[in-house]
Parts: sequence; structure tokens; C-alpha cells
Amino acid sequence: MCGIIGYIGGSEAVPVLLEGLRRLEYRGYDSAGVALLSGGAIEVRKAVGRIANLAEAIQQNPIHGTTGISHTRWATHGGVTLENAHPHFDASGHLALVHNGVIENYQTLRDRLIAEGHVFKSQTDTEVLAHLVGEAFEKSGDRTKEGLVGALRQALRQVIGTYGIAVIHSEIPGVLVGARRGSPLVLGIGKDEHFLASDVSAIIAHTREVVYLNDYEIAAVENDRFEISTVSGSGVDFQVSKVELSADAVDKGKYPHFMLKEIYEQPSSIRDAMRGRLSAEEATAKLGGLNMTNGELRAVDRIVLTGCGTAFHAALAGEYLIESLAHVPVECEFASEFRYRNLPMDRDTLVFAISQSGETADTLAALRESQRKGHRTLGICNNVASTIARESDGGAYMHAGLEIGVAATKSFTSQLTILTLLGLLLGRIRHLSHAEGRTIIHEMEKLPDLVAKALELDESIQRVAKKYVSAKNFLFLGRQANYPIALEGALKLKEISYISASGYPSAELKHGVIALINEETPSVFIAPQDAVFDKNISNIEEVKARKGPVIAIGTEGDTALAKICDDVILIPHAPDYLTPILSAIPLQLLSYHIAVALGCDVDKPRNLAKSVTVE
Ligand code: AGP
Repeated sequence: MCGIIGYIGGSEAVPVLLEGLRRLEYRGYDSAGVALLSGGAIEVRKAVGRIANLAEAIQQNPIHGTTGISHTRWATHGGVTLENAHPHFDASGHLALVHNGVIENYQTLRDRLIAEGHVFKSQTDTEVLAHLVGEAFEKSGDRTKEGLVGALRQALRQVIGTYGIAVIHSEIPGVLVGARRGSPLVLGIGKDEHFLASDVSAIIAHTREVVYLNDYEIAAVENDRFEISTVSGSGVDFQVSKVELSADAVDKGKYPHFMLKEIYEQPSSIRDAMRGRLSAEEATAKLGGLNMTNGELRAVDRIVLTGCGTAFHAALAGEYLIESLAHVPVECEFASEFRYRNLPMDRDTLVFAISQSGETADTLAALRESQRKGHRTLGICNNVASTIARESDGGAYMHAGLEIGVAATKSFTSQLTILTLLGLLLGRIRHLSHAEGRTIIHEMEKLPDLVAKALELDESIQRVAKKYVSAKNFLFLGRQANYPIALEGALKLKEISYISASGYPSAELKHGVIALINEETPSVFIAPQDAVFDKNISNIEEVKARKGPVIAIGTEGDTALAKICDDVILIPHAPDYLTPILSAIPLQLLSYHIAVALGCDVDKPRNLAKSVTVE
């Protein structure tokens, strides 16, 4: 989804906007643009592709001004062209607008406006919104800040969909207006300057004082003041929050890519996910943010875990982990299906919405649908200020720190850690003894060091990656809680190397998938020394019998795998409920090294974006 940033203040806006766009580029990188209020007019520069192309265009043809809006695009409506790049203008050409989200009824509105003589230059839904605001502004005749805010209200009441927008008008210098519904928008408070941005990473170099706008809120911003009101016209009591994010969180440091940096941050991100949540004395986990008493947790007779992409894979692993640790029936649902499925759920079903960004539209809609049906709906999120975090009935923060690489890595292992803590908590409330609880806590405390040890396999995994870099298709296989890890391994490889890959429960091979086996198709087996190890060995034999190359993720000290597999990666020994976390590490590194060897941009893979704020 797109990233927007607006600035109003005393400094030249271009450097502020370009730096902000670079920090938001993980949200979409199809095209970019800037519009500035300059000498009573609006100057605009756009470029297809990366922010670097836009910076180049501005360098060749500089523009100046201290108020401006800008955008980096993830295309939803209309191809990746200069015409479709934002900002977009109204019919008068005096109003410019940038937008993150989707206007679902744009075609109807567009047809009406065309019938009234409007001419559109792009295929985007956003240009329709600009024309709507411009039309209302012209009709109002009120050429003041209040007139512009009024026109925006009128236009937003006609649209169906999601938006995070910023608007400037050449006849109202010194004013920047923004609004949100469904897409995130934050107002940054500086000294005689203000910012509007899709997320705080774009503005933390300038301020840590922010207001997170809620749905249907409009901000009218000037150099030295701002007002927040609603689309329906009432005032808003807003809260100023302090951003904890450190500036170096948004830098790669010594790493060539954010993805590799975030893979190597996992010992500390997992430690942070457990910090203050393991009670050795009570031999259980403490998840105070759930806002539930043990009695209420004891009454839960079913859990539904929902999310998208990697978060869905964490949910699926969570199903295995919580059922084995707590003996509570767990179901996991794709959020995009859950929201329309009308799943029968009885009163004591507890729902968890899992999302790194906390802004994924389908997961947010699933949360709202679950609450609409009266279910207590908790969030497992990494972004404390996100919409899912703010709208859920409680939850657990992942504390994984900012994740910039589009491919989720540390957020995945943090989600698995929290789901394991949840299994321990619910298990101790049910059948797990104090001694069993202590053992699980003792094992979990060792996890960060075990993950650090797994990272030491990096070089050997790089060698394996180089060996299979030309393969056109991969299979990932695992059993029990390692089956979702196989799905995640396949997703990682697909999304950053564009190689076709799929994940399956190992035993499913015989029921069709084995037809894909040949000497060019590597199979990656997750086969730790657990209760189903021998079963995995038989499945590996079936693949070897058909000359399929096999890469196995096994447990330190294993000697059986090396006898039958082409390549073996041995992770540290751990109990079954922790091997999924350890097995994920070599799969992340394998996909990373294959993608790098293929020259792919691992941090900004094609066609993807970090948080999917449209349906
Ligand atoms: C994973 O690498 C992808 N970036 C994507 O599948 C992601 O997991 C999905 O969009 C869900 O995002 P969320 O956790 O922010 O909701």
C-alpha cells in the first residue's frame, strides 16, 4: 500500500519529503511524486519507479517551497505510469492530493463527474477524490482553510473505501489538510512545523511528538498550529503520544539489507517478546495485556487465530502449539476468508487477530467482524499505535522492533514465541503441572541463545543456496507444527526470489505432489529429532527414490539424514514446541541467499508491500 508524507514549516520541504518517502518506500515503490505550494501555484514532480528516480527528476528540474505533499505508490487502480503517479489534481488544477487506500465506488463517482464535464488524466481512484474535493470547494465559494476542510468533508461523505490523504490548495497557502479512514495517518508536531505521514518512521528524524489520527478524523495543519475534527464536523479530543522508536531502527547499519539485519535481530527480538512474561515462581506465562482473568481464560473453550500471509502461517503453527500445550481446540482462519465466512462460533470462543503491521485491511476487518458478533477479540501486533492494536479488546505486543524488510522474518518468530507463551499460560490454567510449567520456562529461556547458534549456520546455508540457485521450483515439507514452517519457507522464497515454491505436510507427497519430483526440483524437509522423525525419513526416501535432491533441516548430532540427503543443516536441539522457531531461521537464510545470488532486491521485492491496507 502506498506511503504518504506532508510537510508545512519553515524549512525547504523537498529534502524532508524525499527523506520521508525513502523511509516509507517499503510500503510501495511503483512510482513517486511531490507537489509544493510555490509562489501562489503548485509545482509538481513525478517519476515512475523508486524514490531515487524522483530525486533525480527534482535535481534536474528543482522546485522550492515550505509546504508540500508527497507519495510513494503501490498500484491498485491503473498501471505503473507517470499519469497514474500521485499527486493528483482537481479539475481547476489548484488542488493537489495524495492518497493511500482504495475508493471502492470510484467508478460510479467518476461516471457522474464525467457526465458533469470533468476530464480525467489518469485511471486512478484517487484522481476522482481530488475532483470531488475540488468540485465541493468551487461550489462552496469559501476560499479559506475552513472552506477547504468543509469541501473535504463533503467529498469524503460520498466515498466508500479506505483513505489516508493529504491535500494542498494554491489559493490557501500555509495550510495542509489530511484525513483518514481505514489507512493509517499520523500527525507529527514540531517547533513551528508539522508533518502528516502514513507511519512514524517517516518523521522520527524530526519529531517524537505525534497524534495518531482515528478513522473519520480530519487534521487542518499550519506552521504553528493544527485542529482535528471529524468528517461529520465535530471537534476531537486528541492525545499526543511520544514515539519510542530509535533512529537507528530505520537504518541497515552494517548489513547489506534490512532483511538480513532483521534475521540477525531474532535472538534479541525473541528475548524482548518474552521479557517480563515468564514467571518461574508461578511456572507460567504472564500476558497481562490480554485483559482477562484466569477464570475468563479457563472458560474459553475454543480459540480462533486469524491473519494473512506470514501471520497466517504463525496462526497455523499456533494451532498445533496451543493444542499440544493447552488441549484447547484451536482453529486458524485466513482473515480474508474469516470476514465473509460467517464461521459458527459459540459464546466462549476467543479470537486472536495476528498482524505485524496492525494495519492489514483483511485482518482488521476480521477483528471488527468478530467483535460485531460479540466475541472478545485480541490482537497480537508489533505496532503499538496500529489500528488493530487500538481497536482490539486487548492483546500482546510482539516488541520485535521496526520491521522494514517486506519479507517478514523476526516478526514471524516473535509471533511464534507469543503463541507458545499463550499455550503455556492456557496449559497451566488447565492440565500442566507446576513442574511441567517450570520445564517449559527453562527451555524457553534458552531460546535466544539457541537462535543465535542457528544463525552461525549462515555460511553453510549460503553454500547450499548457491548450489540450488538455478532451480525453478522448490518443495518445502514438514510435519506437525513444522508444516506451517514449511509453508513459511516456501512463502519467503517465493516473495523475494520469485522462484515457484510450495509447502506441504510431508505425508501429502504421496497424494499427488510427488509427481513434481525430478532432478531439478529440490525438496526442503524440516526433519528435527521429534516424535515423527522416522515418518519424515520415509518421505525423504520416497523423494530420493525418484532422484529428487533433498535439503534437510535436522537436529544437531543427527547422523541418519546425512546418509540419505544431499545437504543437511543441523539446528540446535530443542523440545518439539520450540523447533518450529529454530527451523524458521535456516529457511529465512536459504531464501535470502538464493535471492541475493539471483540479484533480487530482497528488501523491496516486486509487486509487494510491507502492509496491505486494501482489501
Ligand atoms: C510476509 O513476508 C509478507 N510481507 C506478507 O505475507 C505479510 O505477512 C502479510 O501481508 C501480513 O502482514 P501483517 O502481519 O502486517 O498483517
